[in-house]
Amino acid sequence: MVFARGGRNNAAMNDRRAPRILLGITGGIAAYKTPDLVRRLRERGAEVQVVMTVSARQFVAPLALQAVSGREVRESLWDPAAEAAMGHIELARWADLVLVAPATAEFMARLVHGRADDLLATLCLATAAPLHLAPAMNRLMWSNPATQANVASLRARGVALHGPASGEQACGETGEGRMLEPVELAEAVFAGVGLSRPLAGRKVVVSAGPTRERLDPVRFLTNRSSGKMGYAVAQAACEAGAEVVLVSGPVALPAPPGVTRVDVESARQMYEAVHAALRGADVYIGAAAVADYEPAQVAPEKIKKEAPTMTLELVKAPDILASVAALEPRPFVVGFAAETQRVEEHARAKLERKRLDMIAANRVGDGLAFDRDENALTVLWDGGREELMTAGKLDLARRLVALVAARMAAQSRPASNVVHVRR
Ligand code: C5P
Repeated sequence: MVFARGGRNNAAMNDRRAPRILLGITGGIAAYKTPDLVRRLRERGAEVQVVMTVSARQFVAPLALQAVSGREVRESLWDPAAEAAMGHIELARWADLVLVAPATAEFMARLVHGRADDLLATLCLATAAPLHLAPAMNRLMWSNPATQANVASLRARGVALHGPASGEQACGETGEGRMLEPVELAEAVFAGVGLSRPLAGRKVVVSAGPTRERLDPVRFLTNRSSGKMGYAVAQAACEAGAEVVLVSGPVALPAPPGVTRVDVESARQMYEAVHAALRGADVYIGAAAVADYEPAQVAPEKIKKEAPTMTLELVKAPDILASVAALEPRPFVVGFAAETQRVEEHARAKLERKRLDMIAANRVGDGLAFDRDENALTVLWDGGREELMTAGKLDLARRLVALVAARMAAQSRPASNVVHVRR
């Protein structure tokens, strides 16, 4: 099978050209650090095109940025010469990643509303590349509920935020709101989507969404999974350079670009599709909310409401995750644990019982996790854990995928070649 691999931001890897970063600079005092940031990004092999807002000019000279980036700085939507050389839509397409640093409270508020009233805001709206922000502002501006609401809504749309850090501020106060230092920021951006591609050459199978267990021709048992977390994981794995097969229960989501999607309904169908997709796979991530039980029989005709009560007989559905973990040799196996109480304890027990390489645990119920755009995960593995704080599901998925790649590197498993043995 030939896979269309990766979205647009995989172009750098496919062409073996330098990753292209569009660096947006907005008007905060931390802008004085951006010539150094450009150098740090270039040190890592990126081509950097700077776009400044009018207020950024108050803090850093365009000429300095032109000197370190080796490219003319873009500032205006209305510059006929610059537009003739590379129009703003072309510029939006050019980027593999857009980084706005510093991102002021004002600029984030404009992003939330989809404003297109200057060149940088227009580019952020017009690009399909991942958007990364390095917020920087006074601590009270950062903690203000208006800013925090804007941050939450940007995260929910998959925007990645780096920082802010805590410490002494230019305004003389101390607290949260400092831009990350250029070295840290360059490292964070490269560790993220599309640039370091830690899963290049790997095949990843992801299961997502709910399953439907038929009772009769018109009814089924299901659950509240929306598939958003699993779809985000599939997208993040694809951005990290992997060939991705997404085995999906019924959800109302489009397949992420570059991902091969296989649609199923029941737990049994998902079991078959996952095992078929696992040939040659290096990683299996079970993010689906698979039914634990299925009806013992499926009624051939619609069940009539005759008796005052009715009893359904259910039998255990196949445990896909455990069956994959039992393969020999097997891929790197990641499970999810949705728990309503004692989350970490139950998840750690599941990690050991099902012999998983990693488990991502989250609290569910009372409006948490299911069908939400945000989530928080505690990721556990043998001898380790990492807390992924509340964030948009795509942002979380990117961090989870980075952890998977890091653990695989640590284990240095031999790549691929899963033999298809059913237990
Ligand atoms: O045991 P529990 O259902 O809580 O485990 C959740 C994990 O197991 C998830 O990764 C889910 O995708 C997987 N699972 C499965 N097959 C089942 C039930 C759960 O693969 N029948």
